Amino acid sequence: MSKLFHLKLKKSMLKGATVALLPGDPQRAEKIAQYYDPNARLLSYNREFASWLGHLDKTLPVLTASTGIGGPSTAIVIEELAQLGINTFIRVGTSGAIQKRICLQDIIITTASVRLDGTSTHYTPIAYPAVADHDITHSLILAAKSLKIPYHAGITASSDSFFPGQERYETFSGYIIKKFQGSLNEWQKLNVLNYEMESATLLCICNAFALRAGCLTTAIVNRALNEKLPPRPEMILQAEDNMIKVAIGALRKLFPQK
Ligand code: URA
Repeated sequence: MSKLFHLKLKKSMLKGATVALLPGDPQRAEKIAQYYDPNARLLSYNREFASWLGHLDKTLPVLTASTGIGGPSTAIVIEELAQLGINTFIRVGTSGAIQKRICLQDIIITTASVRLDGTSTHYTPIAYPAVADHDITHSLILAAKSLKIPYHAGITASSDSFFPGQERYETFSGYIIKKFQGSLNEWQKLNVLNYEMESATLLCICNAFALRAGCLTTAIVNRALNEKLPPRPEMILQAEDNMIKVAIGALRKLFPQK
């Protein structure tokens, strides 16, 4: 088998891995992989796609592969990894909280996503729900609880843009099309927890392909409070640590080893 077009991987390189952690950022992929295996290896790096393989507790092969930002590149990762035998996908990323009760660095476990993306509509009609896998979600919640890391489980708004789709007026033109004017307040009123940019694509495609997927993110801004862009790098690093611990805790629950 030759290597896949974008990820530059082939099946034998995955050593039987069936589970992948999916950060957006290629640098975060390295950090996550080193967390569960100090001997994790970089398998390939092409464009925004960095793929690392390590063994959790020296036993379970786990791939960590970056998706880049947004639906189109995320869909490429799912398509190609599914061909290599990955059937369990967990997004591990950052998001912007929109409810006052959520503190910076809290974990947000997505139970379902509002489909503000375009890519999921290439795979499933808009009436199709973007829902997380129950077992993954349950494991994430159990892991957060046992680690005593504050978490919130609920609905995420998954947008195709960071600025207008998340109703940020700090754009070059300062103008946002009518469709998104007032949308932040509406999602807040509808008890949506946060904004990010990949979960709708991930959850729709995986459900349609009979694969399982879940999503946890850490809040690095809060739009209901005073948002300061960019967030402090040290705050993001600490937030990432909590999130990685929860993701790895959830893997141990999903794949118990003897
Ligand atoms: N990612 C997003 O998409 N939005 C945010 O506010 C933060 C991270």
